[in-house]
Amino acid sequence: MILRNTIAGQLVLLLLIYGRHTLLSSAKTVANEQMSLALPEPRAYLPDAQNLDFVYHDHEELTRFLRATSARYPNLTALYSIGKSIQGRDLWVMVVSSSPYEHMVGKPDVKYVGNIHGNEPVGREMLLHLIQYFVSSYNTDQYVKWLLDNTRIHILPTMNPDGYAVSKEGTCDGGQGRYNARGFDLNRNFPDYFKQNNKRGQPETDAVKDWISKIQFVLSGSLHGGALVASYPYDNTPNSRICRSSALCAMFQTYSAAPSLTPDDDVFKHLSLVYARNHAKMSRGVACKSATPAFENGITNGAAWYPLTGGMQDFNYVWYGCMEITLEISCCKFPPAYELKKYWEDNQLSLIKFLAEAHRGVQGFVFDPAGMPIERASIKIKGRDVGFQTTKYGEFWRILLPGYYKAEVFAEGYAPREVEFVIVEQHPTLLNVTLQASKRIEGVGAGGPSYYRPMQQVPQHYRPGAPPYAAAASTDNGIFSTISNGLNSLYSNIFG
Ligand SMILES: *[C@@H]1O[C@H](CO)[C@@H](O)[C@H](O)[C@H]1NC(C)=O
Ligand SMILES: *[C@@H]1O[C@H](CO)[C@@H](O)[C@H](O)[C@H]1NC(C)=O
Ligand SMILES: [Zn+2]
Repeated sequence: MILRNTIAGQLVLLLLIYGRHTLLSSAKTVANEQMSLALPEPRAYLPDAQNLDFVYHDHEELTRFLRATSARYPNLTALYSIGKSIQGRDLWVMVVSSSPYEHMVGKPDVKYVGNIHGNEPVGREMLLHLIQYFVSSYNTDQYVKWLLDNTRIHILPTMNPDGYAVSKEGTCDGGQGRYNARGFDLNRNFPDYFKQNNKRGQPETDAVKDWISKIQFVLSGSLHGGALVASYPYDNTPNSRICRSSALCAMFQTYSAAPSLTPDDDVFKHLSLVYARNHAKMSRGVACKSATPAFENGITNGAAWYPLTGGMQDFNYVWYGCMEITLEISCCKFPPAYELKKYWEDNQLSLIKFLAEAHRGVQGFVFDPAGMPIERASIKIKGRDVGFQTTKYGEFWRILLPGYYKAEVFAEGYAPREVEFVIVEQHPTLLNVTLQASKRIEGVGAGGPSYYRPMQQVPQHYRPGAPPYAAAASTDNGIFSTISNGLNSLYSNIFG
């Protein structure tokens, strides 16, 4: 435990956390899924000022709190850094789970990201209180115990500590501290699905991209301030005009922007409503100021509000199938500290209930005929053209609302399969898929040598093919083309 309080210790832990993913034998097996529906609602947390007060914590205080918590709750928390800001501040992530150091095979990893805009720090403080709430309620609150026993929750309280350091408490509007130390808006700094993003990748963004390429997150929330709304993908649209400086252009766009909907729009709306409805007032949809928009039920499509290029939520969804939404939780970007307790009371139930949504939908494994997991099998729910891939344990998850679905499963070297399943409200659907080796290699017939084609290397940051609405065909070897090629060969196998 002494190790944990040194930088070298943090690095060792980081290696352990990433490294353990490679050892199937060290992973825990799936316990029976207990459903949140049967549980009493989570109880309100009584803040304990001795551990964490309702004040803003600077980077040193934040670091001290996280280290003290990881020392105090070694069975429930693990602290690691995903990298450093330009000015050398660690981007700390605290895992909260009953298995903090090891991925629980079959159980989802989820995340919250706070403070991507340095001058919007309410989320940063809410996430510290969420950590404190979890560790102090685990033994007494059934709902929290269920959540932590079945989920690994990764919390990055600040993605932009340098911006925070130059922000001013009490400043409700404006841009000071919004950007990183080189003046980049980190929520415009991700690769974009619809538009070429020429912004140079920043260390904070690169750290997050690397992080989400290593851990398959099922669900995510990014916390902001300056409005009160849950906003869902897409943030960008194929036909946006991005306003650079003209206030008139921005105002025009606010009133004219069209929604840019994903094929998972029903799920994104649902997730946004879960946050808004469990919030003390978000779902009332009251405008922050008379000149700002009011959002029906407290939710909006991102592009319908205003389109942007290079946002984090579109990247999470399109590149990794992670359902991320943007949570605007305070009308004032940097409200005075005495209001923080009120913000916690407004958000605490939302923050918890939102994460539990990772346990809705379908989950399972993809195996080869010998029962070994197939990594990077591509899965697509029919009618939802944004696919996702299995982990190295062959696991997959997809949040879906009750209904009847078909999934297309494809992996290089195996015959593609289509499987049908039903989703119910009460519990996730468990679905294991076994793929048979593909027989389309020339000269290999029945009774011939049964060898497999080597797994094709899929680029780690695979780019999807053409946007669903774009007319131009794409030559990218992304997940869309992989799946459709696989199915084409399935059909040509069946129909000659
Ligand atoms: C952590 O778990 C171990 C093994 O179950 C137990 O012996 C130990 O007391 C626990 N520590 C704390 C601080 O709860
Ligand atoms: C699916 O496979 C996992 C991992 O081997 C196993 O624990 C689980 O029982 C299987 N589920 C079903 C429904 O077959
Ligand atoms: Zn923001």
